[in-house]
Amino acid sequence: MTLADFEPQHPALHFTPPMGWMNDPNGLVFFEGEYHLFYQFHPFSTVWGPMHWGHAVSRDLCHWQHLPIALAPNEEGASFSGSAVVDEHDVTGLFDGQPGLLAFYTCHRVLSDDPEDYQQSQCLAYSRDRGRTWQRYEGSPVLPPPGFKDFRDPKVVWHGPSQRWVMALACGQEIHFYTSHNLLEWQFASAFGEGEGAHTQHPWECPDLFELPVDGAGSDEPATRWVLVVGIGATPDNPFGSFTQYFIGEFDGQRFTNDNAADVVLMMDEGRDFYAVQSWSNTPGRQLALAWLNNWQYANHAPETGWRGTMSLPRELTLRATSRGVRLRQRFAREAAQALSAPSHISPRSLQTAGEHCIALPEGAAVYGQLTLVLKAGTRLALSLQQGYQQRLWLTAGESTTSLHYERQGSNGQATFDEHFACDHAAGSVDGLTVTVTWWCDHGTLEMLVDGATEQRSITQVSFVDHRRQPVTLEVVSGRVEVAEGGIQSAVE
Ligand code: FRU
Repeated sequence: MTLADFEPQHPALHFTPPMGWMNDPNGLVFFEGEYHLFYQFHPFSTVWGPMHWGHAVSRDLCHWQHLPIALAPNEEGASFSGSAVVDEHDVTGLFDGQPGLLAFYTCHRVLSDDPEDYQQSQCLAYSRDRGRTWQRYEGSPVLPPPGFKDFRDPKVVWHGPSQRWVMALACGQEIHFYTSHNLLEWQFASAFGEGEGAHTQHPWECPDLFELPVDGAGSDEPATRWVLVVGIGATPDNPFGSFTQYFIGEFDGQRFTNDNAADVVLMMDEGRDFYAVQSWSNTPGRQLALAWLNNWQYANHAPETGWRGTMSLPRELTLRATSRGVRLRQRFAREAAQALSAPSHISPRSLQTAGEHCIALPEGAAVYGQLTLVLKAGTRLALSLQQGYQQRLWLTAGESTTSLHYERQGSNGQATFDEHFACDHAAGSVDGLTVTVTWWCDHGTLEMLVDGATEQRSITQVSFVDHRRQPVTLEVVSGRVEVAEGGIQSAVE
């Protein structure tokens, strides 16, 4: 199947740049009724280049208003990824006693004709007018180049118990933590990562750090855990391309301690297109996060029509106690549901004949669906949420768990794309034989959450096909499945 002639249209609910190239979400912060979304942006090309911070705001996480570029490359270099916080009590002294916005970002400076000859430092910009204009803090860089190359993507968070700000920073293949009282002067606290989780030839990138209550924690177990999210870029030693892992543990304001054995790798998403995850700062009561729906293996070679790059839908993150330990759980932010039509119910049925069964024929190109399947042990089936076998999720029921496998087809005649885009890979498993699949298709995107009894897998992959009126089909290869309940809704475009 060739995607060479596919002309991507802007999705209905997913954020895309007005033109040009977009990668990581940056500076996610909620301030005075607005969700800010900054992003790695090259406005003059559809391939990655000198990085700007593009900017948009939304009051409902569904409708985004594009704003002028917030940060542009200058003599200090390009503006790489970073985060934003509200300086509520003007501890920086930059806001005349009022609350204001701070953006921490990496200045990426190329030192010679060789693009690999670079240095990185952490810089600060501030806005006194609700993010509409930005000034460079004169004391920048707040962290100068350290003497090694990869030193980037500052994520700044408040640590209540120690009454300090903490910066998580990707440094080579580790995350370094720095602390500060005034957001201007930063002290090194500790390093985490050597020998922990997944490592490739690529440096770690885009850390995030937050604490969440644990749903289902026993009375003798801690009520909260810390989550450290880490991105890993694409290198030839890693066929999966760029992916996002996370660690569960304790953070005492200085040091992160992993709850799991060092060789345990927790994937935030099992698909190919969920990278550079960042959570919003200053959203009390819930942890909302966004990812770039792409993979560095082929991002620069994907089909395009004057713009390239799509964000995930905002997702709410929680923690859940499972038999394998505490795990992240995601759901689509409730705001996305506001854009939906009335649900059309999928009637319960029992399917055991080998063959393909049409479950629903959704209207529209942006579709939300949920399907609960009860599998008999030994059953094997494929769920196609898009045309033909463009994207297919295989479910295989064991005795007490359901394992997942994922397939995607597609090529566009460009070797770099064709070598990696089509894929067929195991996507973990969930506990139990009753599985709920919740998904969003929105033009070229497919985001799926697969829930078992307590465990969940997230699988996110772009497809570059038009989903308009693509039937949802179940192909039973062996065994029997009950479609217990389900519904499909279309987004009003
Ligand atoms: C991750 C990343 C970051 C970097 C940015 C540059 O996708 O490589 O580490 O800051 O993209 O655009």
